[in-house]
Amino acid sequence: MNPWRVSVVIGSLRRESMSRRIADALVPLAPPAMALQELAIGDLPLYNGDLEPELPAPWRRLRDAVRASDALIFVCPEYNRSIPGAVKNAVDVASKPTGQNCWAGKPALVITQSTGPLGGLAGSYATKQVLAAVNVATLPLPEVYLSRIATLFDGEGRLLPDTQEHLRDVLASFETWCARFIAR
Ligand SMILES: Cc1cc2nc3c(=O)[nH]c(=O)nc-3n(C[C@H](O)[C@H](O)[C@H](O)COP(=O)(O)O)c2cc1C
Repeated sequence: MNPWRVSVVIGSLRRESMSRRIADALVPLAPPAMALQELAIGDLPLYNGDLEPELPAPWRRLRDAVRASDALIFVCPEYNRSIPGAVKNAVDVASKPTGQNCWAGKPALVITQSTGPLGGLAGSYATKQVLAAVNVATLPLPEVYLSRIATLFDGEGRLLPDTQEHLRDVLASFETWCARFIAR
């Protein structure tokens, strides 16, 4: 049986992103039923309905990749107590044109992180709210807020063992959640 195609949205565009480091660390922690690959969002023109007739190539690529995904993982920082703009734009782009929402019915896991003590809790709720609007089923529990993110990596940039175990358990819960939505 082929593994599920799990697309990972990294909610920060900067090169040294902690979100990217977490997303990279998820790959070896995922159960065999899941094959993780990045869903790139950094090159998408801002959503503008006037562009639909010419369909920018990055929009087409994103829509095709979302349609081909069995499940989704969002690894995001919190920006001003909300969803990063690049992520919101990606959600908007693949939700259009009307009647062709590419996200509909897919299961998703939302992981937020921040340098502060709250782990991006408000950003997580904002992201889940937006995903609910496009009929994505986000894993309700466990919630994943990684606080004081810089302290969760060792000197060589590896996630600390406790956090690896935490995320391995989260991915196992996500596998159970996905099985409700993905036909085998
Ligand atoms: C525009 C902007 C807004 C931010 N707003 C918040 C915030 O509301 N709450 C918070 O805890 N951190 C906030 N931060 C800090 C980031 O969430 C934090 O630095 C995060 O680890 C960055 O993720 P990255 O390394 O993947 O880019 C903000 C950062 C930026 C750039």
